[in-house]
Amino acid sequence: MSRLDTSGDDYLARREAMLAKLAELDAEQAKAVAGGGGKYVDRHRARGKLLARERIELLVDPDSAFLELSPLAAWGSDFPVGASVVTGIGVVEGVECVLVANDPTVRGGSSNPWTMRKTLRAADIAFENRLPLINLVESGGADLPTQKEIFIPGGRIFRDLTRLSAAGIPTIALVFGNSTAGGAYVPGMSDHVVMVKERAKVFLGGPPLVKMATGEEADDESLGGAEMHARVSGLADYLAADEHDALRIGRRIVKGLNRRGSGVSPGVVRGPLYDEDELLGIVPEDLRIPFDPREVIARVVDGSEFDEFKPLYGGSLVTGWARLHGHPIGILANARGVLFSEEAQKAAQFIQLANQVRVPLVFLQNTTGYMVGKDYEQGGIIKHGAMMINAVANSSVPHITIVMGASYGAGNYGMCGRAYDPRFLFTWPSAKSAVMGPAQLAGVLSIVGRAAAQARGQVYDEEGDAAMRQLVEAQIEAESLPFFLSGRLYDDGVIDPRDTRTVLGLCLSVVGNAAVGNALVPEPSGFGVFRM
Ligand code: COA
Repeated sequence: MSRLDTSGDDYLARREAMLAKLAELDAEQAKAVAGGGGKYVDRHRARGKLLARERIELLVDPDSAFLELSPLAAWGSDFPVGASVVTGIGVVEGVECVLVANDPTVRGGSSNPWTMRKTLRAADIAFENRLPLINLVESGGADLPTQKEIFIPGGRIFRDLTRLSAAGIPTIALVFGNSTAGGAYVPGMSDHVVMVKERAKVFLGGPPLVKMATGEEADDESLGGAEMHARVSGLADYLAADEHDALRIGRRIVKGLNRRGSGVSPGVVRGPLYDEDELLGIVPEDLRIPFDPREVIARVVDGSEFDEFKPLYGGSLVTGWARLHGHPIGILANARGVLFSEEAQKAAQFIQLANQVRVPLVFLQNTTGYMVGKDYEQGGIIKHGAMMINAVANSSVPHITIVMGASYGAGNYGMCGRAYDPRFLFTWPSAKSAVMGPAQLAGVLSIVGRAAAQARGQVYDEEGDAAMRQLVEAQIEAESLPFFLSGRLYDDGVIDPRDTRTVLGLCLSVVGNAAVGNALVPEPSGFGVFRM
């Protein structure tokens, strides 16, 4: 039974605030979609090429959902929002695949430190969920001015490709344009390679570098053209007549992979009894005000049916069972922010139960962390928090985390924050995350500074203290906000609360790939498929 008063002032104010944040989110996401902007997009089109997102749209099944990941990557950095690559999960010939498409309109599609993180994250998702990985390649390689950040750690991109292959997870490269230097190892390491005639250029060193290195005069085509690779070097398995042909061949390859679907047939699925639109009016702007996560659950799960576990115990954490798009799930949701010993123990027990029956867990975060203070320390709050963190860290069912509101302190860990490797982590625009709240953090610095001055026998500079507090509070507040955190790849994206059910449904379908069927496909052979 929902108690949400959708005509009340609180609801309307919260809804207004959320809509304002969503308008900001739209504006930031539009920057990623715009890629390199007018001049570079026009030039790209004038060359008769498709944009990264158009390539994806033509590759995936018509009218299927594409779950884009980290569109705000690089937000707040010196690089354009989106990090010159589009990643996500799309359905090709009925098979869920991870797609990684360079955006050649942004600095030639070159990879900066954020591009690298986004690409590595995509490979992790492919690995954990056993999804085929398709690279849509057209890139100037490493962003040369920031090479120090990417050259050495970026080697993992190629290692990942062959490790996926060795684990029986197919990798495909569709090469539309440049893929030079280290980039040449993307097709080099992939199981299946398609190159577009007269467009793909795949060489370790281009004509100027070859001239410098050996004095040899050579042109692009003889060094690394698609035709040469298809007929002479054997690096290309398929020569595509044009981009559309390459995408068609890509779809044929996926069709031939002999993949099973996620195997879950949800049957007839009932939607929630309450309107998903009402999710806009639940989280207060001031996160110190608690809200009931059951109101969220009622608008997300099938039939709004939630079987609560231990409802009378540890009331700051709501735990229970539900179905979402037919998939069974266990939910852990913070109710009043603070976690006490009872909540920690209840969580640990619940997580064990979910593992016993192999049911995925969904964490709905709104926590200020574990309770501090003499009574709680003496009551063993560290021990109990550690028990919950132990359970979360070692639980082997898939976890999916949604940060709805606060995510502070060790609460972030216990509720399966990024470092605890949930299969997916999405954030609402209302979220805030940091080691502690800005005022508390500035206050702690002030107390420490004052004590240090006293110890040195100095008079504490009160004016300086006030200025410091103000500065620190503003800094921590800015660094706690979702766009900033998403820019650093601390989540897989900021989502509209109204999309929560759809996003969770897609994620649950994806995590099912590893649970059934495809994990049983070929025994790992110890090596990726060697290109001959
Ligand atoms: N690092 C940093 N910036 C790069 C870059 C790279 N690897 N590759 C391209 N850019 C920048 C260009 O300087 C240019 O910036 P500007 O518009 O501000 O002048 C912008 O991206 C577009 O490049 P441009 O050369 O005009 O685009 P193009 O589509 O005609 O050609 C490439 C694209 C990738 C073929 C070409 O830029 C190139 O050869 N780059 C270097 C490739 C290389 O040797 N990489 C080695 C990586 S290990």
